[in-house]
Amino acid sequence: MPESVQSFTLVDVPGGAPLLGHLGTFKRAPLETMSGWWRRYGDALRFRLGPKTLHLFSHPDLAEEILVHQADRFVKVYDPRKPTGLSLVLGNGLVTSSGEVWKRHRRIIQPIFHRSRMVAMADRMAQVGEQRVAGWVSLEGQPIDIGDEMMQLTLEVISQTMFTASMAQHIDQIRHALRVSLQYAVDSVQNPLRLPSWVPTSRNREFRSAMQFMDSLIYGLLIERRRSGSQHGDLLDLLLQARDEETGAGLTDQELRDETFTIFAAGHGTTATALAWTWYLLATHPEAKARFHEEVDRVLQGRTPNADDLQHLPYTRAVFEESLRLYPPAPVVQRKAAINTTVGGLPLAEGALVFVSIYNLHRHPAFWTNPDRFLPERWLNGERPTARFAYLPFGAGPRACVGIHFASVEGPLLLALIGRRYDLQPAQEVVEPEFFVTLQPKSGIRMMLQPHNVPVVSSA
Ligand code: HEM
Repeated sequence: MPESVQSFTLVDVPGGAPLLGHLGTFKRAPLETMSGWWRRYGDALRFRLGPKTLHLFSHPDLAEEILVHQADRFVKVYDPRKPTGLSLVLGNGLVTSSGEVWKRHRRIIQPIFHRSRMVAMADRMAQVGEQRVAGWVSLEGQPIDIGDEMMQLTLEVISQTMFTASMAQHIDQIRHALRVSLQYAVDSVQNPLRLPSWVPTSRNREFRSAMQFMDSLIYGLLIERRRSGSQHGDLLDLLLQARDEETGAGLTDQELRDETFTIFAAGHGTTATALAWTWYLLATHPEAKARFHEEVDRVLQGRTPNADDLQHLPYTRAVFEESLRLYPPAPVVQRKAAINTTVGGLPLAEGALVFVSIYNLHRHPAFWTNPDRFLPERWLNGERPTARFAYLPFGAGPRACVGIHFASVEGPLLLALIGRRYDLQPAQEVVEPEFFVTLQPKSGIRMMLQPHNVPVVSSA
């Protein structure tokens, strides 16, 4: 443990019921509950969800210890032999796997996300963006759910960039299948009384049919690519060509399915919610919105943005970073202690479950001035929070987000692309966050699409 790590006192959250512990309050509103406990009781807490005891850590030193310095001692919570939660849907892909399987697959997948590939990716993102936004003409002047629109847009971006395929004609079915399967995954963790998946209840049947739909879509992609033998230099090519250094074996069909599904799911929902929150924050902060539009109009002069433009759009990038701070799409990361260990002076036994709250870190008054205010200018001129691990929208350490460069290009690029054509106005007063796999706007965010007129620049 580095010497700089301070010692913490573990506080037991009061009020747990004899059998269920804090399950009732937690299940009703997990995010508000964890945030409220942290504000009231401190940075290192312990609470109970039914038979499970959990730790809630909300300090940068604790996050750094768990995610970086002791990353080998704090593992993911999924067990491929007894799938629960996300692994029921994603199988043993990059998000849910551990150990040697994870290491090998991360080595295979990582190169597609290298910074050097982002210029070409950005052109593709912009192409997809322009196509979809062109279809918004018929929606002008009416309220739309911006979360829904961003989901459709980022789904098409991930399909086109990673798999060189369009999912546009399946979008409604995909969104339905993802909603059903992710709800099922969440319930499998939160509802200890649920019936096993082989019992033919209507929910189990609905889940199975959603999974069958997604599997047929994914296997269809793989079969078509193998059949055509075409090369696109995309993720699908990389996965199909990967060979084990020692045995020469390729990935199995199940491994291909799990990794494809994982990138498909992890690669769009997070960015979509980040963009939806960003539009909401801009719509409710007129000065920031005016400054954003001024920058976009001045830099783009009415044309489609590309990767080079991003360096000339610092305020747009700052808006996105600030939105990720206030509404981090992954508000919590979960780990399990693989062996007995000590973190910040606190002993944790093998099997101890830990939540690192990114949401709480991002609003911690010891590390941010005006933590609850939307202030994009705090990111200009390279300013950073007073502690490095107080800002972790993409996690940290070996399990940090593999798509960080992708998302850091996609977010500001799509903001600029849309902002040059549209001014999004709020059509709903109150929007509440809800923690459902990502930090989503509860019941969506209704907004009006108002065409944005670019001021004419005199050529004189
Ligand atoms: C704003 C957008 C995004 C946010 C906020 C985000 C956030 C995160 C976070 C916090 C983690 C770490 C989870 C943990 O430590 O348990 C993670 C992991 C991951 N993300 Fe992202 N992500 C975003 C976009 C993307 C994109 C665009 C992709 C793919 C194209 C992606 C793919 C993944 C994968 C595969 C992992 C697992 C990495 C591993 O364990 O090796 N993410 N993401």
